[in-house]
Amino acid sequence: MTRILGISGSLRRDSHNTNLLRAAAEAAGPDVELEVYDGLKEIPPYDEDDDLHPRPASVASLVDAIADADGVLFSTPEYNGGIPGTLKNAIDWVSRDDENPLDGKCVLLIGTSPGALGAVRGLWHARQPFEAQGAFVHIPSEEEVDQLLAVRTVLETHSAGLAASRATPDARLLEAQSCWR
Ligand SMILES: Cc1cc2nc3c(=O)[nH]c(=O)nc-3n(C[C@H](O)[C@H](O)[C@H](O)COP(=O)(O)O)c2cc1C
Repeated sequence: MTRILGISGSLRRDSHNTNLLRAAAEAAGPDVELEVYDGLKEIPPYDEDDDLHPRPASVASLVDAIADADGVLFSTPEYNGGIPGTLKNAIDWVSRDDENPLDGKCVLLIGTSPGALGAVRGLWHARQPFEAQGAFVHIPSEEEVDQLLAVRTVLETHSAGLAASRATPDARLLEAQSCWR
């Protein structure tokens, strides 16, 4: 059983990104368990003066959820060309944990937006903080996304071992791709 944690970058009730994760959870095959995290709104604004032990329960719970997952699927909107501050804030908290669970974690980034560019700029932005933590990040190509919509979502596609359709010399991306196979 592959355990995936789905984290939406949007707090909005009818968020397209959260709905995408919910759809992925429903469509995931029997070998994939996708839990959609819903605690982002409870994460306090990061303040180094408050970064004491024990950390806030909401932060500890997110850290544990990431640590327990085989991979994390982030679906995030693009806000002003970047990722929403609430999501970045959560990443900042998690990165301060003694056992930073993002280090070496497989992270798959997807996003959706009604805008003409989709959430593509947001995804570029999202890659940086995750890679700064040592995560293996993969952003699926359009073909992969088409494939996964046609097949049974990102998760099954990747855990079933379909090769990424876009070759890249970036070693880290290759590692990330194999991480999701
Ligand atoms: C503060 C803010 C900034 C936004 N900036 C962008 C943007 O740069 N590019 C874009 O395509 N959409 C932008 N949008 C529109 C969002 O993509 C749209 O509201 C989307 O539905 C949000 O995702 P959600 O449905 O998961 O909540 C922005 C929305 C907000 C509230």
